[in-house]
Amino acid sequence: MSELNLILFGPPGAGKGTQADRLREDFQLPHISTGDILRAQVSEGTALGTEAKRFMDAGKLVPDEVIVGMITDRVADGDARDGFLLDGFPRNEHQADALAEALSSLERHLTAALLIEVPDDEIVRRLAGRRVCVKNPSHIYHVDFDPPKHEGVCDQDGSRLLQRDDDREETIRTRLEVYHSQTEPLIGYYDESGLLRRFDGTRGPDEVHAHIRATVATLRLEESL
Ligand code: AP5
Repeated sequence: MSELNLILFGPPGAGKGTQADRLREDFQLPHISTGDILRAQVSEGTALGTEAKRFMDAGKLVPDEVIVGMITDRVADGDARDGFLLDGFPRNEHQADALAEALSSLERHLTAALLIEVPDDEIVRRLAGRRVCVKNPSHIYHVDFDPPKHEGVCDQDGSRLLQRDDDREETIRTRLEVYHSQTEPLIGYYDESGLLRRFDGTRGPDEVHAHIRATVATLRLEESL
């Protein structure tokens, strides 16, 4: 079977996690979210989590030396043998180069970089209204755009819904600045190598999902030819 080695990128709150949760089921790929991995380390109180939390709470990127080895090892795991959905990595050119090298050493390559585009003012509204399941962070809601059936309760497992610590307006602004200065250059990086696919993230979640799913299905067909 052909591999689907995909990255999902875009500004904070663009809908990467929302879409990854759906695509994971469509294509049976592991969803590897750096943000979720780091937040799990924070709640377990590990040394790595304690170091990462300072940067996350400030809306800044955690240092590359904390994250790069963790993710390049993760894509080599058995469950990612037929592909993966990377969400939140790479976030700068150094991380993108490290990923390309790691895949190349496994005689693999990236299939596509899926960019979800949303303007800054919409991002602030989205993140301020986001609620996340306390038990499973891939269960994501929005108080207006994607509300749970019962306020404050996850539809999928009945757990409580919480607001993330970094979803305060001041931190959201810093995260956006970091995105524009450090992650946005990856648009040119992946465009030059022909891997970039763009999606209008201002559409509703179902419509965005339908567009990405159709593109990924085509990519899989092309990879198998
Ligand atoms: P991370 O967790 O990756 O945060 P992020 O990139 O800022 O992205 P978010 O998770 O906030 O948003 P999303 O795009 O997944 O949107 P979602 O689907 O939830 O990273 C957090 C921190 O960890 C970073 O700041 C950094 O410190 C650190 N970090 C992580 N990776 C790192 C790395 N590689 N290097 C260094 N540091 C790293 O949707 C948002 C809301 O909008 C939800 O409420 C949802 O219901 C709603 N919504 C989704 N889609 C739609 C739609 N189409 N229409 C209307 N509403 C929608």
